[in-house]
Amino acid sequence: MRNLNITDGLWRRLLSIRDGNDVLSRKDADAALALYGPIASAKDGFVLAQVGQSLDGRVATPSGDARDISGPDGLAHLHRCRALVDAVIVGIGTIQNDNPRLSVREVSGPSPTRVIIDCRGELTGNEGLFHDGGAPVIIIQGHDAAQTSRDFDVVKLRRGPAGLDPSHILDALTQRGLKRVLVEGGARTIARFIDANLVDRLHVAIAPLIIGSGPCGISLPPIAELCNAHRPMAEVYALGSDVLFDCRLKTRATSSARESQDIRMSDGADAVLYANV
Ligand SMILES: NC(=O)c1ccc[n+]([C@@H]2O[C@H](COP(=O)([O-])OP(=O)(O)OC[C@H]3O[C@@H](n4cnc5c(N)ncnc54)[C@H](OP(=O)(O)O)[C@@H]3O)[C@@H](O)[C@H]2O)c1
Repeated sequence: MRNLNITDGLWRRLLSIRDGNDVLSRKDADAALALYGPIASAKDGFVLAQVGQSLDGRVATPSGDARDISGPDGLAHLHRCRALVDAVIVGIGTIQNDNPRLSVREVSGPSPTRVIIDCRGELTGNEGLFHDGGAPVIIIQGHDAAQTSRDFDVVKLRRGPAGLDPSHILDALTQRGLKRVLVEGGARTIARFIDANLVDRLHVAIAPLIIGSGPCGISLPPIAELCNAHRPMAEVYALGSDVLFDCRLKTRATSSARESQDIRMSDGADAVLYANV
């Protein structure tokens, strides 16, 4: 497990890499650069999905209370991720349940464009993020969704039997120069991007609390046997209040017991971290 000690200098450097004013070097062995460098330095598109969950894998209570699951360091991590991407994507369920701002407040840095998947045109326009003066908001809708007010920036995409194709969503954002994206939730939205094999990295931040019931952060179609489970290579970071698994999802499938050992708990991270970036 690597300890994440991120100094102001390191963070400024990451923002500089993000803006194309600095580059990541193979000599950069610091844990913060290993964790955030691939996001900051991605130029041709990068999809990060992040879940903040309890020890028992919950992201809310059954009644929908989802605030304060992540500890302060988990929250700072999420805001660092937001600051390093061009756009943050959430499903309409998250907007309706949490009314989030999706802004960067815990660290310095720019807030990303906010993208809401609202396939059927259910947003009312009264949601907080339309009126908080924050970063731009883009609504992604199915081609047949109800007409939305002209005041909003709406992208219409063809809706198939399974809804909107996540790759079409990414294409639409790329056309607007939004290439680095954070898929922040909820479970159904993240699942669609994982199912489509579009997620480069999955960050699971685990906070030491047990909720006992309530929704999980990722809900994929059921599998019968564990040999069909995702077993991504992962680095583990001690954030402070939370523990983070930084999982590589887009590499080839790993199903053998040998490859499942790739969750690395040592400092020998460099070779792995630069191998496929
Ligand atoms: N702790 C965390 O990290 C975190 C982060 C965000 C949210 N959350 C929690 O997650 C919960 C909400 O999750 P959720 O799964 O219910 O809602 P969600 O993923 O935010 O939104 C689900 C809605 O978006 C639609 N959708 C998503 N992707 C789509 C696509 N490609 N095409 C068409 N429709 C698409 C779904 O359509 P269908 O109905 O057709 O599936 C559904 O209507 C809340 O409790 C929130 O607090 C936790």
